[in-house]
Amino acid sequence: MRVQRFFRFTHYSSRLRTNPPSPHTHSSIPVTGYSLRIITNPPSKQTPMSQRLAILISGSGSNLQAIIDAIAAGRLDAQIAVVVSNRRAAFGLTRAERAGIPTRVFPLKSYTDAGRPRVQYDVDLARLVAEYSPDLIVLAGWMHVLSPAFLDRFPGRVLNLHPALPGQFAGTHAIQRAYEAFQRGEIDHTGVMVHWVVPEVDAGPVVASAEVPIYPADSLDDLEARIHSVEHRLLVEAIAQVAGLSRNISAL
Ligand code: GRF
Repeated sequence: MRVQRFFRFTHYSSRLRTNPPSPHTHSSIPVTGYSLRIITNPPSKQTPMSQRLAILISGSGSNLQAIIDAIAAGRLDAQIAVVVSNRRAAFGLTRAERAGIPTRVFPLKSYTDAGRPRVQYDVDLARLVAEYSPDLIVLAGWMHVLSPAFLDRFPGRVLNLHPALPGQFAGTHAIQRAYEAFQRGEIDHTGVMVHWVVPEVDAGPVVASAEVPIYPADSLDDLEARIHSVEHRLLVEAIAQVAGLSRNISAL
């Protein structure tokens, strides 16, 4: 069965909008089992400068890999200034090292073990990230909630990837909870979103989202694999979509 699915891109605030709303352009991308139609705005007349990215991870880093690959293939005009992991064992660190990208490990545990306040971790993490002068900070499977102590240092410059549609399944185990909701007959699809980060968990203005179908024969592993393949595309598209914008924001 082929199902038409959509990426949706949303400008997140009129104050920060660089281009007026304009007629959409459409293109189709074949994806195993169904297809995705990307709906986006025509490219800006201004040539966006290459973005400096700081990417925060906690695990496998397959989304980081998608960004590394897109840059290497010339599909994304960006450079990764640093990859930060809160977990030393995160495989994403190996992916970054293989690509010659600077890495930093910054675990919360050393703060909690020492009885230091959580907010101090966020302040120090922000200081560490700022050393690399990023235009855009991308949370790609980063498992800590960031407070204003971090976010206020990078206003309007922190993107998060979440494996669910806006307003659905905020927090951890989102794919499993969507799968269980499907088994109960409550939903017939789930999705993926990329959004600007606000203190509320997995909320904030949506940059891009994509619906992902769930089929009756799916195992949880099947659904996870389908969601991850959509994430890898959507995250790269979302970063490209905001390219140039975050430089403007940091200059405000
Ligand atoms: C992704 O599903 C992301 O949406 C979630 O954690 C997962 C990270 O995967 N928050 P990876 O580390 O990029 O492979």
